[in-house]
Amino acid sequence: MHQVSVASLDHSKTVTTPILEAIGLSKHYGGIHALSDADLHINPGEVVGIMGDNGAGKSTLVKILSGAQPATAGQIRISGAPQTFKTPTDARSAGIETVYQDLSLAEHLDVLSNLFLGREEVLFKFGGLSILNRRKMAIRAKELLGEIGVNVPGVNDVVGGLSGGQRQGVAIARAAGWGSQLIIMDEPTAALGLQETQHVHDIILGLKARGVAVLLVSHNMQQVLQLTDRVYVFRRGKIVCNLETANSSADEIISYITGAKG
Ligand SMILES: Nc1ncnc2c1ncn2[C@@H]1O[C@H](COP(=O)(O)OP(=O)(O)OP(=O)(O)O)[C@@H](O)[C@H]1O
Ligand SMILES: [Mg+2]
Repeated sequence: MHQVSVASLDHSKTVTTPILEAIGLSKHYGGIHALSDADLHINPGEVVGIMGDNGAGKSTLVKILSGAQPATAGQIRISGAPQTFKTPTDARSAGIETVYQDLSLAEHLDVLSNLFLGREEVLFKFGGLSILNRRKMAIRAKELLGEIGVNVPGVNDVVGGLSGGQRQGVAIARAAGWGSQLIIMDEPTAALGLQETQHVHDIILGLKARGVAVLLVSHNMQQVLQLTDRVYVFRRGKIVCNLETANSSADEIISYITGAKG
């Protein structure tokens, strides 16, 4: 769908239109240059890693791409078309969902309510939260969780009683379940144990298999090497490299993070 033939150049070659392109994105907080002239792109179905030391500008990029904060300068293109995100709803409408480390789930509500939270248009389609519609929503919720392999005891269980991994699964299912083309995850496993982290890895690979692109901000080298197709390294607000993961190594990535290279 996103493959465009370039007939005039070479019949054997195709050009992929990226799901997302950032061109010259910058963010200044007063005199602090949190992000400077960042260029990056994410192709359909790609898992792209973002690495960099504390304060390198990773979350700043995420906030801009998710519509949480405006850029000081630069442009965002979605499937080739320039977009301005004034709010997270604008980004969501363009098919970009974001999962934050703190998840922003409502702890006191059950899994079902969390999955449909903030989806008033969907609730409206279901005609409100009647018992009957909760039943319909439960069917959709189970499909959603099943599709990406999230195991929770039941959709009527309160989120506050779930494990960290299960909660992260619900947050990702919520992000993945609405036709999104790109899911941004800012350190999705930072607070999780080994097994729970593995579970999130499986979910990310499942999304990739379904053609959903993932932008993964992570400090976990093994995770980045294992899951990503490419990795961008940020240092002091600048992108210092764009590496094909398969042709790179932990040593090379670390040398860019520390500044030994680049
Ligand atoms: N709201 C803000 N006001 C002022 N400065 C900010 C603000 N948010 C971020 N910064 C600064 O911008 C820089 C980049 O911060 P950012 O949160 O993007 O880093 P990060 O790469 O996500 O780091 P970490 O790995 O610790 O999460 C830092 O110097 C930070 O102090
Ligand atoms: Mg951060």
